[in-house]
Amino acid sequence: MFHLIIAAALLAALYVVLVETLFKKSKCKGTADMTGKTAIITGGNTGIGKATALDLAGRGVRVILACRNQKKAEAAINDIKKATGSNDILFMKLDLGSLKSVRAFAANFLKSESRLDLLINNAGLVADGQTEDGFGIEFGVNHLGHFLLTCLLLDRLKESPAARVITLSSMAHRWGKIDFDSLIATKDLGSGRYSWQFFQAYCNSKLCNVLFTHELAKRLKGTNVTCYSVHPGVVKTELSRHVSLWQKVFIEPVARLLFLDPKTGAQTTLHCAVQEGIEHFSGRYFSCCAVEEVSAKAKDDAVAKKLWEVSEQLSGLS
Ligand SMILES: NC(=O)c1ccc[n+]([C@@H]2O[C@H](COP(=O)([O-])OP(=O)(O)OC[C@H]3O[C@@H](n4cnc5c(N)ncnc54)[C@H](OP(=O)(O)O)[C@@H]3O)[C@@H](O)[C@H]2O)c1
Ligand SMILES: *[C@@H]1O[C@H](CO)[C@@H](O)[C@H](O)[C@H]1NC(C)=O
Repeated sequence: MFHLIIAAALLAALYVVLVETLFKKSKCKGTADMTGKTAIITGGNTGIGKATALDLAGRGVRVILACRNQKKAEAAINDIKKATGSNDILFMKLDLGSLKSVRAFAANFLKSESRLDLLINNAGLVADGQTEDGFGIEFGVNHLGHFLLTCLLLDRLKESPAARVITLSSMAHRWGKIDFDSLIATKDLGSGRYSWQFFQAYCNSKLCNVLFTHELAKRLKGTNVTCYSVHPGVVKTELSRHVSLWQKVFIEPVARLLFLDPKTGAQTTLHCAVQEGIEHFSGRYFSCCAVEEVSAKAKDDAVAKKLWEVSEQLSGLS
């Protein structure tokens, strides 16, 4: 009996610690007037992106859902219209796993939309495989597609009075590594068939997201555009859809008990999108609606610059 009480107390303590750390909740408190602004949200049809779109639409932002699947995007748009009463939300086709599609999206957007205030690089996946252009799918979609997209939209962002670029990274960036020789030789940052291998490739791509934001901030000095990378929390979404069944068996109970819901998972992105007075944090990494220090390798100036140059080459910009 006594042992049971001790065990129960330990479990309760573990729960409390987890809820205060890994699964901590936060809330965006920004109240800036967002009416009349335009946002692009990549992968806004589900998960954190959809929750972000819903909130911004509710604040009067014109929202463009940049998604690869028209049916899914239109279903999400209907939900968001119903929930917010907004009519200012539309789909534009974007497959980040195709550089051609990224270019077509940018051309289409620049032709049909006159302003861009928020670019939210949200789409991402944990999976095995390659993009249309032969890049490892996580490097290609999570980093390179967003890199090209951002570069193609920069001039329009600069025309806005105070545009922001927000890129979803993850705390998983801490386990990331970047091997440029292998990247140039294989068009990939680590891959393989096993889930631990594509989890490593995921971490590597999320490190790219942090370094990209670090370098972008430098390149944006002297403009009114700022940029931020985000860890949204550990959130119950479709992100684990490609992990194997036996892993789901372990993840599912923890997910039900502890993972954040997408609305809570959108708060740090929203903080970076609407909070006033964070511009001096441009280039930094945010978690729980606050700036967070990253390790030396995630703010290495030389690596960030090299990643930018290599990404320019690989995406055909230089
Ligand atoms: N969930 C977490 O705990 C967590 C933690 C840390 C960071 N994050 C980051 O948060 C971001 C959002 O993830 P989530 O958890 O909301 O995942 P999710 O529910 O799986 O949503 C991911 C979105 O990305 C889209 N996407 C995937 N590949 C694409 C492509 N080639 N072109 C265009 N869109 C594509 C998906 O579209 P389809 O529906 O068509 O596939 C979907 O809309 C990701 O960058 C992820 O790395 C999540
Ligand atoms: C940035 O914004 C300020 C005031 O909002 C404006 O005076 C300035 O011209 C802008 N700078 C650029 C480079 O657009």
